[in-house]
Amino acid sequence: MQKEHKITLLGTGLIGTFYTMTLHQQRGRDRMHMVYSQDGKKAKEFAEEWGIPKWTTDMEQAVYDPETDVVVVGIPNDMHKKAVLMAAAAGKAVLCTKPLARTAAEAKEMLAAVAQAGVFSGYLEDLVYPPKTLKSLESVKNGALGQVLWVRSRETHAGPHSDWFWDKERAGGGAIIDMGCHCIEIIRNFIGKEIRPLEVMCWADTLVHPIDAEDHGIGLIRFQNGAMGQFEVSWAFRGGMDLRDEVSGTEGTLWIDHFLRTGFEMFTTVGQGGYVAEKAESDTGWLFPVGDEVHELGYTHMFVDMFNALDAGSNPMETFYDGYVVNAIIDACYRSAQTKKWEPLSLEFGDDGQKLEPEASHQVPEEDPHIIIKKERMPNGRTKLILKEKATGKIIQKIIDKD
Ligand SMILES: NC(=O)c1ccc[n+]([C@@H]2O[C@H](COP(=O)([O-])OP(=O)(O)OC[C@H]3O[C@@H](n4cnc5c(N)ncnc54)[C@H](O)[C@@H]3O)[C@@H](O)[C@H]2O)c1
Repeated sequence: MQKEHKITLLGTGLIGTFYTMTLHQQRGRDRMHMVYSQDGKKAKEFAEEWGIPKWTTDMEQAVYDPETDVVVVGIPNDMHKKAVLMAAAAGKAVLCTKPLARTAAEAKEMLAAVAQAGVFSGYLEDLVYPPKTLKSLESVKNGALGQVLWVRSRETHAGPHSDWFWDKERAGGGAIIDMGCHCIEIIRNFIGKEIRPLEVMCWADTLVHPIDAEDHGIGLIRFQNGAMGQFEVSWAFRGGMDLRDEVSGTEGTLWIDHFLRTGFEMFTTVGQGGYVAEKAESDTGWLFPVGDEVHELGYTHMFVDMFNALDAGSNPMETFYDGYVVNAIIDACYRSAQTKKWEPLSLEFGDDGQKLEPEASHQVPEEDPHIIIKKERMPNGRTKLILKEKATGKIIQKIIDKD
């Protein structure tokens, strides 16, 4: 018999709406049963709109509701820790939106709370779950790209939709904590979560908006196997929301465009009658609509994974530990943006909770005396290898008739 979960939802803003749309708009069996907002009018209207039986302005009442078994956290970043600690104390499974926390120290407390309470937890990082990304990750895992060398992930739009995002203290930063968290987790998934990030270099600046936090950021993350992650975020990009990923490997390349230029483009002089897509700046002219937004942004597969893992007693693809690593990388990015230097990243423990051994440096397998620099099929049909002799460093070339 398949289980059904009754959920307490904290937050009735943008993400609360996307999460509820995902679970309620199709014929899903897991449903929001209780909703919390500090604004009573909003909570009541939200409950009525989505057919949610209970609403409250009291967070504790929402979390401890005796009829719900899962708490979904969709409130501002400065409230995540309080909400997760409360859910753990109530003995409930807890799913928390991104970023897990404002800092790795906060994330660590949250991780400890769910571990101590023995409750299921999941990190709601939707952007590793779009169908295109899941398919790409599978191809990468099957070796289609060879060894992944460089992953570039970009999220840019004209700036967030609510006051608290712009408040450095409440959000824990600016565009980097808000959107870099997505990019970093996409990068980790493609490079391999078992590969440790070692150090970061980051530029962050406030170029446009009158705020204390950064509205732009570019970061480089160097991993233990030599692979490089690169993220680019902006809160001042014009033209909608640009979500793109690129993966380069020794045997292949992947380009993913999630939102603009996906192959669905429409021109209209009169508009199409309302909402186009998240952060769309116009509803006339050339538009980039999105078919089923919650599906294409990964929310559908994300919740399926979360609830399947909860029922099976296994880990979901995205755990609180992943959220902690993302926070640790972001902490190092903010340090680097200040010092303008590569900043080391120290993860205090592994995903088994054990202290990590000191990082070993990047190793090259030694079984061959040569390293292949380049292999190319020439017009005469022969294959040319450009090789580096490992012992001497000398670069040579070799022609081979057949591969
Ligand atoms: N793709 C994603 O995964 C994604 C997208 C958007 C937002 N988020 C995350 O979701 C969370 C909420 O973002 P949002 O876009 O829904 O914001 P929002 O401003 O649209 O909604 C915030 C909600 O929290 C409530 N709230 C505000 N201040 C509060 C407080 N002090 N105490 C309790 N509740 C409070 C508001 O009433 C509202 O219901 C953030 O952590 C954000 O990073 C994730």
